[in-house]
Amino acid sequence: MMSGAVTVEAPAKVNLWLKVLGRETSGYHSLETLFCAIDLCDRIHVEAAPDGVALEVQGETDTGPVEENLVVRAARRFLHAVGRGGVRIRLEKRIPSAAGLGGGSSDAAATLRALNHLAREPLGEAQLLQMAIELGSDVPFFLSGSPLALGWGRGERLLSLPPLPERSLLIVHPGAAMATAAAFQALARHRGGDYQPSAQRYLLQQLTSWNEVAQFSVNDFEAVVPATVPAAAEAISLLRHHGAAISRLAGSGACVFGVFADDTAVELAEVTLRERGFAVWRARTLAAIPAVSEVRPQTGAPGPPG
Ligand code: C5P
Repeated sequence: MMSGAVTVEAPAKVNLWLKVLGRETSGYHSLETLFCAIDLCDRIHVEAAPDGVALEVQGETDTGPVEENLVVRAARRFLHAVGRGGVRIRLEKRIPSAAGLGGGSSDAAATLRALNHLAREPLGEAQLLQMAIELGSDVPFFLSGSPLALGWGRGERLLSLPPLPERSLLIVHPGAAMATAAAFQALARHRGGDYQPSAQRYLLQQLTSWNEVAQFSVNDFEAVVPATVPAAAEAISLLRHHGAAISRLAGSGACVFGVFADDTAVELAEVTLRERGFAVWRARTLAAIPAVSEVRPQTGAPGPPG
C-alpha cells in the first residue's frame, strides 16, 4: 500500500527549433525538435488514498473534464500497472492551456514521477517511457529529466544536451487558444496534403551556444498559426523589435516567446506588450527538471491516510 504525500513542480517548455516532417501512417507527424524547459511551472501535490483517483484543479479552471485530464489518465495508468492503491491529487495550474507550452504533458509526466516516488519506484524507466508515449507527444521529454533535448519521431526519441547558460524569456499569450490537432491540420492544408519531409540537416556541435541556436531557430507552425491568430504574429514582431535574440511561436501555438540576453530589454518588452493588452509571463530557462519532494506530516497532526 502507498503512503505519504509528495509535491512536484511541472515546468513548461518552448521549442527552440520545430520542424514538422512527413505524416506517418499512424496519422501523427514526425518531428525534429529542440525542447527547452522553463521555470513557468504548474504544481502537483499527490497524497496516497485507499483507492481511486480524485483531482482538484486550482487556478485556471478551463482544463476540460476531469476524466480527460492528463493527470487523471496518467495516475489511472500508473495504478493499473502497479495493481494497487489510490491517490488524491491537487493541481495548481499556472501554465496556460492550448498554448504550445506543454503544460498538460508536463503535468502528466510529473504525475508519473510523483506516483513512482510515492510507491517506492516499482516501475523502471522503460515502463514509464511507454506510458508517457501513450499519454501524449511531449510527455517523454518532461519525463526524461533533461531540461534541454533534441527530439525526433513524436518526441519520444530523445537526446539530452548539456544545458545552455540561463536566459530570460518573455511568454506572451495572444488571447486565443490553439488546439494541437487543429494546428497540424492547418499546416497539412497549407502544404497541400501529402508533403515531402524536409529534415534540416543540422550538426549537433552547432547547438552549443545561444548564438548558434538563434541562427538555426525555426518553427514550421509560423507558416499557418499567425493567419489563424494574427495577434501571435504581432507579438513575434514586437518581441523581435524589443531585442529578443529568438522570437517564435511556442510549439504549435498560440503562445509566443522571446529569449533575451539582456534583462533590461526583457523588462521593456514586458511593459510594451502588457500595454498593448497581451497577458505576459517572465520566465527563465531551467538548468534541471525539478525533483519530487516528500511532504512530511506536521508533528502532532494525524498522518495522511493509507
Ligand atoms: O499528442 P497529442 O495527443 O497532444 O496530439 C493531439 C493531436 O495532434 C493528435 O491527435 C494529432 O492529430 C496531432 N499530432 C500530430 N503529430 C504529432 C503530434 C500531434 O499530427 N507529432
